[in-house]
Amino acid sequence: MIPRETINQILETARIEDVVSEFVTLRKRGSNLIGVCPFHKEKTPSFNVNPARNIFKCFGCGKAGDSVRFIMEHEHYSYPEALRYLAKKYGIKIEEREQTPEELAAQNERERMFNINSFAQEYFSNIMMTSDEGQSVGLAYFHERGFRDAIINRFQLGYCPNSGSAFTDYAMHHGYDKDLLIKVGLTGSYENRLYDRYQGRVIFPIHNLTGKVIGFGGRILTKEKTKAKYVNSPESEIYNKSQTLYGIFFARNEISRLDNCILVEGYADVLSMHQAGIENVVASSGTSLTTEQIRMISRYTKNITMLYDGDAAGIHAALRGTNMILEEGMNVRIVVLPPEDDPDSFVQNNPIEVVTKYLEDNARDFIGFKTNLLLKDAQNDPIKRATVIKDIVETIAVIPDPIYRATYIKECSRTLEMAEQTLTNEVNKILRAKYRKQLGLDPKQDSQLSYQEYQTYQPQQQVEPKDTTPIGFFQEQELVKLLLTHGTETLDIEGKDEDDNDIVYTTPIASLIIDDLKNDGLLFRDSTHKKIFDAFDRGLDTNHIPTAQDFISSEDEDVAVLAANLLSSQYKLDDWQRHRIVVRTEDDVLRKTVFTSILRFKDMVIEDRRATLVKELQSCTDPDEQLILLQKKKKLDDIRTRINRDLGIVITK
Ligand code: CTP
Ligand code: MN
Repeated sequence: MIPRETINQILETARIEDVVSEFVTLRKRGSNLIGVCPFHKEKTPSFNVNPARNIFKCFGCGKAGDSVRFIMEHEHYSYPEALRYLAKKYGIKIEEREQTPEELAAQNERERMFNINSFAQEYFSNIMMTSDEGQSVGLAYFHERGFRDAIINRFQLGYCPNSGSAFTDYAMHHGYDKDLLIKVGLTGSYENRLYDRYQGRVIFPIHNLTGKVIGFGGRILTKEKTKAKYVNSPESEIYNKSQTLYGIFFARNEISRLDNCILVEGYADVLSMHQAGIENVVASSGTSLTTEQIRMISRYTKNITMLYDGDAAGIHAALRGTNMILEEGMNVRIVVLPPEDDPDSFVQNNPIEVVTKYLEDNARDFIGFKTNLLLKDAQNDPIKRATVIKDIVETIAVIPDPIYRATYIKECSRTLEMAEQTLTNEVNKILRAKYRKQLGLDPKQDSQLSYQEYQTYQPQQQVEPKDTTPIGFFQEQELVKLLLTHGTETLDIEGKDEDDNDIVYTTPIASLIIDDLKNDGLLFRDSTHKKIFDAFDRGLDTNHIPTAQDFISSEDEDVAVLAANLLSSQYKLDDWQRHRIVVRTEDDVLRKTVFTSILRFKDMVIEDRRATLVKELQSCTDPDEQLILLQKKKKLDDIRTRINRDLGIVITK
């Protein structure tokens, strides 16, 4: 663990312009520096570096943050990795904090598992490159398949001797623990005898995002049908198959740079593509893609190209799992290879120019591909055609972005020879059902939602339900911005003491906002806003009000990005000019801004509650119920009147 003081020292020393300019050419513009954004494709520079605030922001893609955030994004590092990078750059020594026994125990096991894997990987590689058996069996196999030493070394391929427990004995001789060897799946035990699980197999180490070996795949060399083609690592604390993509460590920078990820099925496909110089390639390792894998890719790009064997099974595989990718808001294209090929053979048997041209010419948008394929199967059978249309409509309905949905509807209306409106109606019917389900209503009761409601409706992407209704979002954000820009400053407030005497007391703006909202039991709804609210709340309790810098350098990405974004946009006092307020002092403006922001937020909350009440009233038939609801409504109306009066006073005062 890196101690807080060291983190602060790193943050203070790392100048944003300095850190960025190692990767981006910056030019001076006014007090800022600008350059071409490294995170999205652009010709005119919209990437801004603000040395005064020590932050960057791209006005094109919206990425923003401090030096640590920049390194995390650019190098795809974790938070501690980015800190270590910067510490090294500035010669700051990191004295790691000693860990508690619990932390140590928990981490030790993981740490030891990584160590064992790393030890095994080196052993397998060494055996293959230097021993007789390794060279004549393992290395010869890879060479036979067209893999040259550069790719073999890069992917750390290896071989496990075909002799019972040679590896296990060697590892135990070097002090590695038997139980842990079994746990990570390097060693098996049968009737109290230990054996190497990968004996006589070539080894494909599987790396995580940061390049650590988390597991192995061992391929058999013979064609024996009685033995498994692959022996794989079991799931463990460090290896979760559904969260792993083979090759991601070697592909991530290219995926990000080319803004596209090519997806193949197997180890050999990844190796051959990389060897040919196409490096934005990963494999799902034979299973259909999981949501976690898709999310991993979506950190680097929104575009996936699926590359599949030209046989029927390959095409079928391409159709499976694709709705899930679309659901995550990714763009999917499909390339089907010639019938006799898989990616491995195709790349090995053709010059690179032919391969890249083939990929360019044959990349088909997924929905178009699926439509054509299914239509061909259906021929002129009207019943089959109806099924096809239903299938396609369901696929379009999973796309979160309404604009993309509309585009696909337009396109499919042409291919399917159907009126666009009919398709739109069908898609909307599905969306309404989903919407109802999300609201906990019976999805089959298809009552009309308003046009507005389902046009803008986006299927929920988060697994956990998240309040996406942005009611009051901007009022909340206004308060968050105030907290960040002026939270630690104080204002003199007129009030009463316990004996009802007029007094003036000095209080931090953070306390004015937080305590006022808490008194009324009001909470922010947006989860990021809420995190910032809570941080101030805690800070006030402990007398350490957080500063904007604390949030910009927060480990929580949502918080850090929001803070940097809010601080990059100038605080506008336009509102006040609109109300023709005579601005006397800075202090006066601030005071007014704080109070109106609070009042507007409250007004929004009341308005929202009132709207719910009105709806309840409309559907209520019980006279007693009605009376209660009416009383509630009256109370809210009173509060609103008071808020508006206060607002009026603040504004015109
Ligand atoms: N796979 C696996 N376990 C198996 C079978 C397959 O993990 N028992 C995964 C491997 O990642 C493999 C991929 O699924 O690379 C594709 O399977 P397959 O096509 O059978 O393997 P290839 O590696 O392509 O085999 P080959 O060497 O024959 O090209
Ligand atoms: Mn294969």
